[in-house]
Amino acid sequence: MMGKIYVIGSQKGEVGKTTSTLNLAYALRKQGKKVLAVDFDSQANLTACYGIENTGELENTIGHLMMAAIEDEKLPAMKKCIRTEDGVDFIPSSIYLSVADAKLRLEMGAEKILSEILDPLREKYDYILIDTCPSLGMLTISPFLLGEGLPM
Ligand SMILES: Nc1ncnc2c1ncn2[C@@H]1O[C@H](COP(=O)(O)OP(=O)(O)OP(=O)(O)O)[C@@H](O)[C@H]1O
Ligand SMILES: [Mg+2]
Repeated sequence: MMGKIYVIGSQKGEVGKTTSTLNLAYALRKQGKKVLAVDFDSQANLTACYGIENTGELENTIGHLMMAAIEDEKLPAMKKCIRTEDGVDFIPSSIYLSVADAKLRLEMGAEKILSEILDPLREKYDYILIDTCPSLGMLTISPFLLGEGLPM
């Protein structure tokens, strides 16, 4: 099994990216698919949708994974990063992702950083859905280089 990666992104804000990610993940889950939703937005709205409010206090987020990958350090354990809500697995985000964003602007190959995190997970999931932030910076572009875009 090689999970499909779908990226939900748009330059425009407030158009329903996060809501679409949430609903798509839930619908695919209902069809019996294994789904991983990745909150790839430092606003952490998707994470909030899964009931986590104090995201700033989280220590195992996509931002921490990205920073470890950028710094070439050992990644945090996936089982600490992946949470489950309503049967859907997800990796939370927080404001800390903006630190990775700033670093990525200075680096080449941002998509390689993300693929280091997601590639080992592709065999465990049918679908990996990535909710992105409303910009076209490196952080938002990089998942598109990995997955099949779902432009909005
Ligand atoms: N299909 C819909 N019909 C009506 N309202 C919707 C629909 N989808 C989303 N909304 C509402 O629109 C607002 C923005 O949705 P959402 O947060 O999903 O957008 P977003 O594109 O992720 O925003 P951002 O760019 O800030 O990440 C929310 O209040 C949400 O409840
Ligand atoms: Mg959003």
